[in-house]
Amino acid sequence: MRTQGALAAGALLVGAACAASTPPGVVRWDISRRDRRQELARLGKRADTYEEVITNEEMRGGYFATCQIGTPGQDLTLQLDTGSSDIWVPASTAQVCSRRGDRGCSFGSFNPDESETFEVVGEGNFDISYVDTSYAKGDYFTDVFEIGGAVIQNMTMGLGSDTDINHGLVGVGYPQNEAIVGTTQSLRSMYPNLPIQMVNEGLINTAAYSLWLNDLDASSGNILFGGIDTKKYVGELTRIDILPTIEDIRTSFKVYLTSLQAVSASGKDTLTSRKFPIPVVLDSGTTLSYLPTDIAQQTWREVGAIWSDQLGNAVIPCKMRTSKGYFSFGFAGPSGPRIKVGMDELVLDLTSGPAPLFTSGKYSGEEACRFGIQNFTSAPYLLGDTFLRSAYVVYDLVNNQIGIAATDFNSTESNIVPFPSLSAHIPSATPAPDQAQATEKPSFTTPAYAAKSGFLDLNAPAPESGDESAASGLGPVFGAGQMAVVGLTMVLTMLGSGLFVLL
Ligand SMILES: *[C@@H]1O[C@H](CO)[C@@H](O)[C@H](O)[C@H]1NC(C)=O
Ligand SMILES: *[C@@H]1O[C@H](CO)[C@@H](O)[C@H](O)[C@H]1NC(C)=O
Ligand SMILES: *[C@@H]1O[C@H](CO)[C@@H](O)[C@H](O)[C@H]1NC(C)=O
Repeated sequence: MRTQGALAAGALLVGAACAASTPPGVVRWDISRRDRRQELARLGKRADTYEEVITNEEMRGGYFATCQIGTPGQDLTLQLDTGSSDIWVPASTAQVCSRRGDRGCSFGSFNPDESETFEVVGEGNFDISYVDTSYAKGDYFTDVFEIGGAVIQNMTMGLGSDTDINHGLVGVGYPQNEAIVGTTQSLRSMYPNLPIQMVNEGLINTAAYSLWLNDLDASSGNILFGGIDTKKYVGELTRIDILPTIEDIRTSFKVYLTSLQAVSASGKDTLTSRKFPIPVVLDSGTTLSYLPTDIAQQTWREVGAIWSDQLGNAVIPCKMRTSKGYFSFGFAGPSGPRIKVGMDELVLDLTSGPAPLFTSGKYSGEEACRFGIQNFTSAPYLLGDTFLRSAYVVYDLVNNQIGIAATDFNSTESNIVPFPSLSAHIPSATPAPDQAQATEKPSFTTPAYAAKSGFLDLNAPAPESGDESAASGLGPVFGAGQMAVVGLTMVLTMLGSGLFVLL
């Protein structure tokens, strides 16, 4: 996500698919998941430090895809980000691209001198920075941009002549969040960004797209501009309203999270927060999810995750990924849609090498992983890829709504339905009932933790749907005292870099 009262950045790298067999009015772009760790491993180069791996993985993990820019087309692999709104590419002359080996721009860079159609439209006007403080600066330019077999003749993009990021991004958020609007502090400087320009050039009927990230274990998903794919989700597709940032202006895909339940073999716990209803931004550019500390700590307690001061992250024994327990995220009030996120999507590797081991504390000797729900101090909170993989999400920038349903993991079937016209509502989707109730503040009660032991019994199946009459559990496994920060020492064995001991 771009800075501007925002938090984490990250990104989905969108890769261009070859021309897909899609009906007119939709453009499909296949994306593949890649993270910094894999990138480093792929290039046979070890990470310099553990810190860097953590930071990069968090901020730069994501989904990538290929596109062609200019005439003749130059191939670039870019990261897809719903949390920012500009397309930008590193210039081939940028210093970051002249570094040797994988430190340079291995995903491609753009050479304006080799494009006959390149035109500068805003000299020195492009200046973007992301929440992890990385940045890109240079000119705004227009050129031909080709994705997924669709050709956009006149696309405005940023040229990163001065940047510390070695690959470009495709921001598909609201034009109101373009970097130029932040620079000039004026909405009058907005230009038609990718979803808008695709409408302007007649490629799609309305400014909307659907994102299917697929399973953590699968390497790819896709973004479908101008349509939905009814075979990529199960159950109902429900429309909920996107919240404005100020007055009537929307700058991010922010919705209210109105409930969170932990469901496991021993029952269901309803988690609570003083921050309900919690404004959360659906940000494909962020790897993890970030919730207010009170409720994040409850999720940790459910699954036995512990806070590591050294890593600044909640960590969990890797074996917990086989737990059958899941969290159920509720939106738009009591009768709104709910999305289940299983533990297999919430336990992530910390490094590309062998997993680090806990060397002290109650998990001593066990493999350590990162937990997919972390805490953050202030709004807006974020639902990143650890949440989004379990959801099929349609972003409708014209009606300011998202459509959300449970994803159909690994679906190989396809039934694409285009939006029929500009400002048409999301096809096949029904509005969430009683959305007004989403703003109600529930009374705060302490969760019972009745069901906590269920997450820890790895062989016990979780009930299919959360039964309101939560079964009485086996009692808390950890005393309240252990919710406090647990000091932890990890021994890290990294690819080719020997042994690190973090204090
Ligand atoms: C290309 O787009 C820019 C920015 O929207 C606009 O100013 C310019 O007139 C367009 N050029 C053509 C040839 O349509
Ligand atoms: C999806 O496919 C991946 C890779 O083939 C596999 O590891 C994973 O278990 C599958 N997920 C589901 C939910 O079937
Ligand atoms: C997250 O929780 C930990 C443990 O309670 C705390 O030390 C840390 O400051 C919190 N981080 C944020 C950003 O609130």
